[in-house]
Amino acid sequence: MFEGLELIAADAILGLMAAFRADADKHKVDLGIGVYRNDHGDTPVLGAVRRAEEALIGEQTTKSYVGPAGNPGFNAEMEKLVFGPAHPTLQAGRIKTVQTPGGCGALRLGADLVRLSSPGAVVHVSDPTWANHVPLLSGAGLKLERYPYFDAATGAVQFGPMLAALEKLPPRAVVLLHASCHNPTGADLSQDEWREVLALVRRRRLLPFIDMAYQGLGDGLEPDAFGIRLLAAELPELVCAVSCSKNFGLYRERVGALHVITETPKAADAVLSQLVKLGRGMWSMPPDHGAEIVRRILCDQPLRTLWEEEVGAMRRRIQHLRHEFVGQLKAHCPQRDFGFIERQKGMFSFLGVTTPQVHALRSEHHIYMTDDSRINIAGLRRENLEAVAAAVAQVLKR
Ligand SMILES: Cc1ncc(COP(=O)(O)O)c(C=O)c1O
Repeated sequence: MFEGLELIAADAILGLMAAFRADADKHKVDLGIGVYRNDHGDTPVLGAVRRAEEALIGEQTTKSYVGPAGNPGFNAEMEKLVFGPAHPTLQAGRIKTVQTPGGCGALRLGADLVRLSSPGAVVHVSDPTWANHVPLLSGAGLKLERYPYFDAATGAVQFGPMLAALEKLPPRAVVLLHASCHNPTGADLSQDEWREVLALVRRRRLLPFIDMAYQGLGDGLEPDAFGIRLLAAELPELVCAVSCSKNFGLYRERVGALHVITETPKAADAVLSQLVKLGRGMWSMPPDHGAEIVRRILCDQPLRTLWEEEVGAMRRRIQHLRHEFVGQLKAHCPQRDFGFIERQKGMFSFLGVTTPQVHALRSEHHIYMTDDSRINIAGLRRENLEAVAAAVAQVLKR
């Protein structure tokens, strides 16, 4: 049965992790893997998570099944967190939510729903987009195409070409958008640009599929959800995949949600029944532990306040590092403008150096990033900012 299978080369990011681990240099810097790190280089369990988890372990009386749509309290709290508690579409009962194993599970379930509703649908993703969007969406049988998004010359969104490409799409085409903290570029749509996207998708009758994996890590919990909330208020249909991996630091617990907005409550019920059936065919039921932790944090005012402070501290650390890193780069490479790094949001930016320069940073300076020069800003530390900027200046001289 399995003799004909080919060995697949290890995922580039996993290879990079292994190379980093094997590097014995004391000052090595990991800017590759996409997890938040504090100034000690750790990805600690958040205080709010720790407290909610302790209470949960003390109080939980059964490990019996919860249900195929997941933890109902979690789903209700996520709707309020993502859309805002007073959102008109939420109050109209047009949002249906299913808990999923991480944001990836939500992306896959959303893709399966699209495929079921419109088997020939094409999903248009930004160029570039998060690498895992490709297997998650195409694994559901959807065809993928790219629309222009990132302008490497300015480090910003090339909004004109993006709109021009979306304008040409046929009705019912699916457009994947990053809510905020675009991965891998850090280049986000402004609020005015979101309004223009809204007008376009409404006029062209496109279906937006929004991926929100970093709520709170860009400008704040509310502003990072601006695009989702705007589109949810104005459009008849919308699909949103949400992850709690980064903003709750619950990566390995696999916590996420898929929210689907339909035009009528009748369609909402049908969608929910289909989502449950699709989920049954993949994971049967999502894991409860992380979702119950999130539910407890969001329902309990002191815990919620603590969590909001912790997300705020992560966000401010990233913003501060962006600012300081640009300052160091300015000092070491005055001939090149790295100011875009400070204008971008969230954990990622492209440094904008060539693959041979990325390799030189790795082999000569023990600084690790993916070959496309994507860096995880949170992987920087106060004490190595200057060394990293000096190393960048050195490799740029070649
Ligand atoms: C853009 C984007 N979407 C979704 C996810 C989903 O993550 P997870 O499945 O770990 O919740 C990630 C994680 O890195 C991401 O960067």
